[in-house]
Amino acid sequence: MAPVEESEKEKKEKKVDIDMKEKIEQILGEIEALKCTTAAEVEEARIRLLGKKGTITALFEEFRTVAPELKREFGQKLNQLKNAAAAKIEELKANAGAAAGGKNGGSGEDLSRPGDDFPLGSRHPVSIVREEIVEIFRKFGYDVAEGPEVEDDYHVFEALNFPPEHPAREMQDTFFVTNNQEKNPILLRTHTSCVQVRCMETMPLPIRVVCPGRVFRNEAISARAHCIFHQVEGLYIDENVTFADMKQSILLFAREMFGPETQIRMRPSYFPFTEPSAEVDVSCNICHGKGCNVCKGTGWLEILGCGMVDPNVLEASGIDSKKYSGFAFGMGVERIAMLKWQVKDLRHYFENDLRFLSEFENNI
Ligand code: PHE
Repeated sequence: MAPVEESEKEKKEKKVDIDMKEKIEQILGEIEALKCTTAAEVEEARIRLLGKKGTITALFEEFRTVAPELKREFGQKLNQLKNAAAAKIEELKANAGAAAGGKNGGSGEDLSRPGDDFPLGSRHPVSIVREEIVEIFRKFGYDVAEGPEVEDDYHVFEALNFPPEHPAREMQDTFFVTNNQEKNPILLRTHTSCVQVRCMETMPLPIRVVCPGRVFRNEAISARAHCIFHQVEGLYIDENVTFADMKQSILLFAREMFGPETQIRMRPSYFPFTEPSAEVDVSCNICHGKGCNVCKGTGWLEILGCGMVDPNVLEASGIDSKKYSGFAFGMGVERIAMLKWQVKDLRHYFENDLRFLSEFENNI
C-alpha cells in the first residue's frame, strides 16, 4: 500500500510543477504587455500581481508543495518573476507620474490627498489685553481714537500744561527726533494723552474716547520697564462731570477686567494735566487682598493714573472750562497683562519667543 501512495503523491507534485511553470510564463507575458496610464491603474496592477491576494503571492504559497529537488529551480524563477513585476511597476509608476505632470502642469502628485497640517498663529498677549480694555470702554459708550507716534512737543507736553523747563518733563524721559532746543521739537510720544489733545481740538462735545497706542520712553530695559510699551488712555468731557463719575467708571472697568469681587482704592498723586490726580489700585486678584508675592503682601495692585482734567488743559484746546469738566485716565497694557497672567518679566512681551507666545493660543 505504501509505495502506491508515494507514486500518487509524486504524480500530484509533477502536475503542480507543470502548472506552476505555465503560470510563471503566463504572468511574465502579462507583465511584459502591461500598460497603465494613470497612477491609480499602476496601483491596481501592483495589487493584482504583488498584493496580499495577488497572483505572484499565490504562487509563493504554491511553491511550498513543489518537489524538493525542483525547489531550487522554481525558487529562482519565482524570484525573477517577482523582481520583473516590481521593476515594471516602478517603471509604469514613473511614467504615469510624468504623464500626469505633463497633462495637468502640476508635479504629478496625488491632488486628492488631504493637505498638510500647519500650525495656527495666535494674537499677541498685548493685543489681546488692549482689545479687552478697549472693548470694556466701548460697552460704556466710549469711541476709540488713534494718533501719530511721532508727535510734536505741543501735543505731548505744552497743551497738557507742562510749561517749558517744567521738571515733570523729566518724569518722562523723551526720545527727541529733532533738536530739543527748537521751539516745538518733534519727538516720540511718551504717552497717548497727546491723542486726547487732538480729540479735544477736533471732536464735538461731549467727548468720550479711549486712545490705545504705543509709547516710547528713554528708560533702561529691565523686568519692570521697557523703552517701548503700550497704553490705553481715556477722556470724558461733558457738563457736570465729577470725581464721583470717574471713580464709578473706573470701578466698573476694574470689575469687568478683574472680576465682580474687585475693589479699588485711590491714592492722591500728581500729573500736570489733572487736578486733583489719583493713582488707582485694585484688590489683588490672586490672593483676594490677603497678601501674596504678586501684590508684595499689600493686597493691592497699582493699575492706572487718573484725575480731573485741569481747566488749563481744557482752555488750551478751546473748551470752556466754566461750562465743561472732565476726567482722564491712563494705564499700561503690559502691566495689566502681567497682572492678568502673572508674568514676572515685562521683556517676555517684546522678545517674540514662540514658546511664550504659543501659551496664549487659546485666548484668540
Ligand atoms: N499720561 C499719564 C502717563 O502716561 C497717565 C494719565 C493719563 C494720568 C490721564 C492721568 C490722567 O503716565
